[in-house]
Amino acid sequence: MLSEMTKHAERCAEIVRLTSEALVVSHIDADGLTSAAIIGRALEDAGIEYSTVFVKQLGETELSKIADTNPPLTIFTDLGSGVLSEIKELGITAVVSDHHQPSTTDTLPARDELISHLNPHLFGLNGSRELSGSGTTFLLAQALSRERGGDKKRGLPSLAVVGAVGDLQHLKDGRLTGANRTILKIGAENRELSYAPDIAFFGKQTRPIFKLLEYATDPYLIGLTGNEDACIAFLKGVGIRLQGERWRRWIDLEKKEKQRIVSSLIQHQMKKGVSPQRLERVVQEVYTLEDETEGTELRDAQEYSTLLNATARYDRAEIGFNVCMGDRGGALEEAERLLKEHRRNLVSGMKFVKENGVVELEHLKYFDAGNRIRDTIVGIVAGMSHSIIGDRDLPIVAFARASTPHEREELKVSARATQHLIHKGLNLGAAIHIAAEKVNGTGGGHDIAAGATIPLETKDEFIQYLNEEIKKQTKKQTTG
Ligand code: C5P
Ligand code: C5P
Ligand code: ZN
Repeated sequence: MLSEMTKHAERCAEIVRLTSEALVVSHIDADGLTSAAIIGRALEDAGIEYSTVFVKQLGETELSKIADTNPPLTIFTDLGSGVLSEIKELGITAVVSDHHQPSTTDTLPARDELISHLNPHLFGLNGSRELSGSGTTFLLAQALSRERGGDKKRGLPSLAVVGAVGDLQHLKDGRLTGANRTILKIGAENRELSYAPDIAFFGKQTRPIFKLLEYATDPYLIGLTGNEDACIAFLKGVGIRLQGERWRRWIDLEKKEKQRIVSSLIQHQMKKGVSPQRLERVVQEVYTLEDETEGTELRDAQEYSTLLNATARYDRAEIGFNVCMGDRGGALEEAERLLKEHRRNLVSGMKFVKENGVVELEHLKYFDAGNRIRDTIVGIVAGMSHSIIGDRDLPIVAFARASTPHEREELKVSARATQHLIHKGLNLGAAIHIAAEKVNGTGGGHDIAAGATIPLETKDEFIQYLNEEIKKQTKKQTTG
């Protein structure tokens, strides 16, 4: 329950208040950056000095480095729940504010002499849908600044919503639910956030309308996605003027024009035989950051989170972090440049998958990108290509060569599932955790999305173990 979790957040905040200095260790994605900024702002308010480190994962190397510097308190955000015993063994005094599934072998209580653990899964909340890392950290930040009154909290709900949307937590229901929604409402009450159903596609604030359709992957628009000419023709066909003084963007359209496009798209998809359930996905709840300038990425939670990923996933986390902390000058400019590169990489990653296809086994499909897709974005590409490749509804598993600080060569694994598969009993995080351990790798995550790092030569073995685990999970459900 959220109220229990909030109470526990108070206890974690008490531990934080005892220190005058902290190290914040966070994850290199949108949720990780917003988490770090949320706790950063709260630490500033509380007069606690801090520095930040952003990591791809918390392996032995990363943890030993932290243990060596021996900070009085380490606050892990958007990661840590999978390695509680390792943190403890190294003697790191820590507050872990995370939403990943705690590793099953861990029996540490939520509060230990060294570690305080704040995680929605401990309170019966679903960390892959109902609360993100940034939302979890929002609860901690709120507890930390509770005695200082509310006015300083402006901006934090917005960051928490950007983090949740970055982790795609709004996808299942087409809107944020659970504890995420509670935070959204706080932001709406502050008038820093607004929300309304709108077209689902990416780039409403910044891109020409036809680009919105051309790059649509979720849902995939049959005959339109990937085909610029077809998108332009489609829009002209429904009577939309594409250019004013410049290319018109979604936000430049009249309400009537928007409605016309949405209903034409739904009809278009219907004619192509898309199921009614999927048709609805063209519309989703959309989150607007009212304090940001119209027509910039920062105005829209989805675009903001992609901007952050474009920094963090390319070893430039500090840029995105500074944007979250309010830098609208140099950091924003650099982030926008990185975003262009990120977009190009996603397009070429998708092209790779389309051209090379996937291998289908009984319980999963996979592709190996080798060096062709960066290990830090291969999961995003896997998620985007889900609807486009393979005939059956199977989880998709992607491999890429890992660029790790280790001597041994490693493979990065990223896997994505669907709600339908979860319904059948699938839990990718648990399956990957087990399969990775069997080949001396490490992995975990959420039911719908998970990842691992494994020794290069164990790929085939790993695939077999994973296939087996998934079989067990989904069979259990259908027979039991
Ligand atoms: O590390 P972490 O929690 O940040 O990442 C969550 C991941 O789950 C994101 O990469 C997000 O894209 C993925 N996800 C997904 N589909 C969903 C929900 C989450 O691919 N419906
Ligand atoms: O890296 P990727 O986007 O595929 O990660 C999907 C999910 O799996 C994320 O929530 C990530 O934090 C988690 N993960 C993990 N352990 C790893 C790799 C990824 O828990 N070694
Ligand atoms: Zn997260």
